[in-house]
Amino acid sequence: MFAFELGAGDKRELYRQLCAAADALTHGESDAIANMANVSALIWEGLLELNWAGFYRNLGGELVLGPFQGRAACIRIPFGKGVCGVAAATRQPQCVADVHAFPGHIACDSASASELVIPLVHAGELIGVLDLDSPIPGRFDDDDLAGCVELARIVAPRIAPVEMGPRQG
Ligand code: SME
Repeated sequence: MFAFELGAGDKRELYRQLCAAADALTHGESDAIANMANVSALIWEGLLELNWAGFYRNLGGELVLGPFQGRAACIRIPFGKGVCGVAAATRQPQCVADVHAFPGHIACDSASASELVIPLVHAGELIGVLDLDSPIPGRFDDDDLAGCVELARIVAPRIAPVEMGPRQG
């Protein structure tokens, strides 16, 4: 059993705890699916006001659903489509306060109101994206963005396909 105490302190402290827990959980584990599953569970446990948290993987230039928490979701997303597809195509994080105002937003769950998507890059390759959805408009701020970018930096090498070579840590 893994028990992490998440949630004491302010939001930056919460992300420090979340990153430390994700680092500890994935360190030395070579199975990408296990690592994505555990990290999505950690996010779900640690962050409030989410209705979806998980991964899409870059499989041959298309985003394909990976481990997640929340309701069943769209399985395949082309690069450039929706918030996830734009994050993948541009390799830029997308912090969207109102998904209904985002051109091409893909509504997997009608409860979603805001969304944060972070590209996952390892060894110059786009591995996939980390996607967080919230039913609260404007749920994600600069602290969430910075915290999730750091989380993505830690996790990306540990969810990379094995054919990409040795992992760090
Ligand atoms: N809303 C996303 C699709 C993925 S789900 O939210 C899980 C998008 O527009 O890319």
